[in-house]
Amino acid sequence: MQRGRAIVLVAVLAFSFVSIPGDPAQAQRPGAQASKSKSERDRASVWMREKLAASQKILEGLTKGDFALIEKQAVGMQNVSYMEGWFRAEVPGYKAQLHAFDYANDGIIQSARYKNLDGVTLAYTQLTISCVQCHKIVRDKASG
Ligand code: HEC
Repeated sequence: MQRGRAIVLVAVLAFSFVSIPGDPAQAQRPGAQASKSKSERDRASVWMREKLAASQKILEGLTKGDFALIEKQAVGMQNVSYMEGWFRAEVPGYKAQLHAFDYANDGIIQSARYKNLDGVTLAYTQLTISCVQCHKIVRDKASG
């Protein structure tokens, strides 16, 4: 009986080890670093979703010619130092996309201040490219 219980305990432990509660994706990603906690990932996730919302609002500002809205949203995305130390920061190409993102975001802010709609449109396109490229890099790394 004692031995039976020990086996059950080992099985339970092994199960809880492979399936991290609430974050099954983490266990499937060889590229993911275990050193970063789930709460850090959650914060990153919240911040990324804010970025998605901000970039959508910039598109809205572009269509309305609302430079104040554009500038406000782009200023809100200036949080690159936080992304620098992030859990994917070691992936080759990540930093280049991070800088492309930062550069494009600065371009949006400057062009909005000068009320240069074409300038904002160009910088916004560059920003979108950096979003897509960085995620491509992160995904490639995660699946390989
Ligand atoms: C320099 C890299 C980089 C750039 C640039 C970047 N992201 Fe991300 N993004 C990430 C990483 C890393 C994750 C987390 C992926 C993971 O969970 O493995 C992420 C996750 C996300 C998610 C999913 C969040 C969730 O629910 O978990 C969204 C949405 C997102 N990014 C939107 C954007 C948008 C919009 C932009 C551009 C305005 C952008 N990102 C630019 C690196 C980047």
